[in-house]
Amino acid sequence: MTDQDYFKLAVAAAHQGLDTWTNPQVGAVIVKDGQVIATGYHHQFGQAHAEVDALSQLDDVADAKDSTVYVTLEPCSHYGKTPPCAKRLAEVGVARVVIGQQDPNPLVSGKGIQLLEDHGVAVTVLNQTADLNEAYTYFYQHHQPYFTLKYAMSLDGKINGAGMTRTQLTSEPAQQDVQQLRSRQHAILIGEHTLLNDDPQLTVRTRQQAFPPIRIALVRDANQLDRRLKLFNNAAPTWFLSETEVTTSVPENVKVVVRPEWTPVVISQYLAEQGLQAVLVEGGSQVQAAFLAADLVNELVVYVAPKVLGGAGLPAAVGEPLTAAFNLGAPTITQFGHDVRVRARRV
Ligand SMILES: NC(=O)c1ccc[n+]([C@@H]2O[C@H](COP(=O)([O-])OP(=O)(O)OC[C@H]3O[C@@H](n4cnc5c(N)ncnc54)[C@H](OP(=O)(O)O)[C@@H]3O)[C@@H](O)[C@H]2O)c1
Repeated sequence: MTDQDYFKLAVAAAHQGLDTWTNPQVGAVIVKDGQVIATGYHHQFGQAHAEVDALSQLDDVADAKDSTVYVTLEPCSHYGKTPPCAKRLAEVGVARVVIGQQDPNPLVSGKGIQLLEDHGVAVTVLNQTADLNEAYTYFYQHHQPYFTLKYAMSLDGKINGAGMTRTQLTSEPAQQDVQQLRSRQHAILIGEHTLLNDDPQLTVRTRQQAFPPIRIALVRDANQLDRRLKLFNNAAPTWFLSETEVTTSVPENVKVVVRPEWTPVVISQYLAEQGLQAVLVEGGSQVQAAFLAADLVNELVVYVAPKVLGGAGLPAAVGEPLTAAFNLGAPTITQFGHDVRVRARRV
């Protein structure tokens, strides 16, 4: 087996970590005399890192002496919620560490590699992310969240029929896919009309999550909100970004944050300060237009349903104009039942 083969095993392990929240997904494989002797991954935010999890799988940690460790992300070098992994690998006498990607987090970046080398451990960096931790990497490189815009539309580009009631566009398989998409986010954001018209739950209902996405709604005045709205249930933490201070108490899961104006740039800065890396914007039309115009959208995920809503329907993005049209990379197209998902990223 080659370095690439062992690295793929580490990547597969990393994917098992579904509750890492704002920590990266990381996998590690320990190889000695051509045999995989342990595999580990970062299971959950606050728990052991992948390398330490792999070491804990060994009956005798002394077996790691002179081994090669394949790890998808640079081992950490600082004392955070857990002690530094690079130090631990050096202490147990690992001979070589093969790293997929240098950590973009400035707390770690390059320092884990340096620590290993200073302790005589050979290091190879593959410079391969294997598409892991896209939002995490983007966040540390650009100091803002990775925003994904998601909506369902008819074949004539409408996200809702005329009037104030919600039009159900997609069917069950596409809705299940949305649950998957939501489960990878740190927050889901909607505009006030969507909140009032649709009264959405904005929850992940396909699996129990240790850290469900924070539900965020943009509102002019949080005092005016009907407390029977589903966002007031305690299914997930909820933030209202309001222009007006609330004068009454709110449930424990609800936070009201007040600014004179919540433009997309102000929202992005605030969410970045809160450490949120992956944010899904789920409508409506005006909020979508505002995020597009602010040049904050990294990816579009659009579900196209075989329906036609006609001239009075609400188009996908109405409002703030773009200064110039922009191109996205080649889309990936996937069919879910009768619906089609088009997914395209900024290049
Ligand atoms: N098919 C889909 O995937 C999908 C998804 C989501 C929503 N929808 C549909 O979209 C419709 C709602 O879209 P919409 O365009 O009418 O409304 P929206 O984008 O949900 O909300 C926009 C409204 O939010 C308020 N708002 C408060 N703070 C704001 C801020 N900082 N920036 C911008 N707006 C702010 C504004 O209200 P005021 O200016 O009036 O004060 C603004 O008009 C609903 O009918 C819903 O069913 C469809």
